[in-house]
Formats: sequence, C-alpha cells, structure tokens
Amino acid sequence: MSPPLVPPIDDLSFAPQAVPTLAEAAQALRPYRAVSSLERIDAHAKPEPLKLDWNESTIAPSALVIERITRFLGNTHHLNWYPDQRSAELVDRLTRYTGRRFDEIVVTNGSDAALDLLCQTYLDPGDEVVVPAPTYTHFLVYAGARGARIKQVYGSDPFELDIETVLAALTRRTKLVYLVSPNNPTGVVWPASVVARIARAAPQAIIVVDEAYYEFCGDSCAPLVDAYSNVVVTRTFSKSFGIAGLRVGYLMGDERVVADLRRIHNPKSVNVLGQIAAAAALDDLEYLYSYVDEVTRAKPILVDFLNAQGLPARTTPANFIMVKVPHTGAFSQLCEDESVYIRDRSMQPQLERYVRISVGTVAQTRDLVTRLGRVIARMPHVAS
Ligand SMILES: Cc1ncc(COP(=O)(O)O)c(C=O)c1O
Repeated sequence: MSPPLVPPIDDLSFAPQAVPTLAEAAQALRPYRAVSSLERIDAHAKPEPLKLDWNESTIAPSALVIERITRFLGNTHHLNWYPDQRSAELVDRLTRYTGRRFDEIVVTNGSDAALDLLCQTYLDPGDEVVVPAPTYTHFLVYAGARGARIKQVYGSDPFELDIETVLAALTRRTKLVYLVSPNNPTGVVWPASVVARIARAAPQAIIVVDEAYYEFCGDSCAPLVDAYSNVVVTRTFSKSFGIAGLRVGYLMGDERVVADLRRIHNPKSVNVLGQIAAAAALDDLEYLYSYVDEVTRAKPILVDFLNAQGLPARTTPANFIMVKVPHTGAFSQLCEDESVYIRDRSMQPQLERYVRISVGTVAQTRDLVTRLGRVIARMPHVAS
C-alpha cells in the first residue's frame, strides 16, 4: 500500500530521516570557517589585547555615532518598526560623500552583501568569473553558490599589478571580474585607467571593484561609473569608519544596473542602528580623517621595525601590512601569548610564510612594536 499523500501529523514513521539534498552549487562549497580571534580575546587580559587580524578599526567609532544611537534608543518604541527601506538619510549623505546620485547607490548589510547581491543578480550556473588572486576569498563563496566557473588568475609577483594576466583570462563567457583595490592582502591598487581597459575588453561583464579600504588609500574607480555602465564599486563602513559590528556597506553603479540590483536586494536588510551610525559617521569626517592619518603615520613605524629585525615587511595603501616570518604558526602563537592577534595568510598561493597585521594608531603601534620585540627575542633563529 502506498503511503498517504499527507501523512498523519502524529505518525513519526513518516518523518524523513535524511536531510534534504543540497542545491548542486552548494555541494561544492564547504562551511565558512571564520578564523577570528574574537572568542580567544579576553577583554580583561593584561596587556590590553591588540586585535589586528580582521582589518577592523582599532578604535571606537566617532562620539557622534554613539550619541545618535543613544538618542535613538532613548525611545525604545523605535525598535519595533522596520528600518527605512531606502536608507534615505544615509544615501543622502553618501551622495555628498561620493559625488554619486541617489539612484546610483544601494546600501547593503555590509559590503559582503553587496558582493553577494551582484553575484545573485548577474551570475548563472556555468558563467565565468575572473578573479586576480590571491585576494579576499569570501567573494568566492558568493560566486561559487551561483554555480559560476571561477578562474583565479595569478601574476608572477602577487605584490605587483598585472593587467595582462587579467586581460588574457577574459573570454566572451566572462560575466564578472572581481578586483579588490587596494587588494586584501597584497595591497595592489587597480587604477581607474586599468579598470577602464578591463571594462572595455569585457563589455558583457560586470567589473566589480571592491574598495573596502578606499579611505586609507584615496584612489577610487567611482568616477568610472559615469562612462562605464558595467563598472560597480563596493565600499564598507567596517574598516575606516569603525562600525564593523553594525554591518553597513554600499555599492555605486549605473542607474540601470542599480535598478536591476533592486529586483533582488532586500531593502529591510540594513538595520536601523547601522543606518543611523553610518549617517553619523559621515557627519563627522574629521574623525575619519584623523584616524586615517594615524594609520598612515603608524605603518612605517611597524614596517621599519620589522625590517630592522630581519623580518621582510611590506607596507600597503590599506590599513594592514604583510610580513614574512620563518614559521607563521609559531609566530602567530608567540604573538597571541602577547595578546596580539594577527592573520596567517600563508595558506594562500604565493603567500607562503606571510602573515598580515592590521595597523591602528601610532600609540597602539608603539605598544605593538614593544610586544613584537619580545616575540622576536623568543625566536632565536631570527633575532640578531
Ligand atoms: C576586500 C574586502 N571586501 C569586503 C570585506 C567585507 O566587509 P564588510 O564588513 O563590509 O562585509 C572585507 C573584510 O575584510 C574585505 O577585506
């Protein structure tokens, strides 16, 4: 006798034992293993933890951010309403900050969500995606989830811009090119003139320029949006603005592209506190500029120290540096013993023996250098 189409609710013999089969594209993916120091950091540890593994800001956001959030929470009734679905106050400030028009901007739940939205909107299974690597790997999950064919392309030196390798990888099937500028973790910058060449060479593709570290570098491809309908720039409030925990990012593109992205974009996904905080951060640009100035002055202090200690270090135009150490695991552990949390990048091709260290203020970096001095002293084969 065949089972009834709608089994009785209380008869557990009909309950499925296996979990449902994964979508084909998801079968190729592994769960994202977030390697964050957060759960290992003891907030009361001495010395004060230096969390330098995720390129977040190392200081609290502007006092104006805290003031506006506190004022908003003064009326808790506000929390039972959905957020403004157009993020209008934030987008209004972003038009002034970026020079783009209202209809050229989409605010997202962190810039990760902007990358995901681009993949969802433009990629079909089998579409080709060109990614100069090594780079920010989380993007690969979004493209992979769409069943795209990802072509990671490597130049001969990961720290040098290599446009020819990217141009050679483009085909008529290329649907998306992902460029991070400055690149995480190598610091390579994609100048607007180079991105324009790629945009002309692949007019059928969306050229995504991820400018998560824009504020530290100052170079942007946003003006390309005027002439190139296939260029989209993504940015974040997680790095220089110091509100990573509130998850706010945005993208800028041609109005028609933005209208297409809105077919899938969930306007409720940017929470109300994130909108308020990001708008307040844009109302206090002095605070941003002074933090960027601190990071800019701190980078050479760290790089010069490491080089002088015999550890080859490279600066980047972003808020992190790269350093080559004899053994990344041992070095990271010794750092952790000093409450310094850094990121091992040695598993990425071409980055053997490299760790990435986020850079904060000058005072924090002087403290960091003292602690690294003790780390290096405990590595006798490195210390002179
Ligand atoms: C290049 C790059 N893009 C995007 C992100 C994600 O930023 P968000 O916090 O805005 O999602 C990061 C975070 O490390 C990043 O390095």
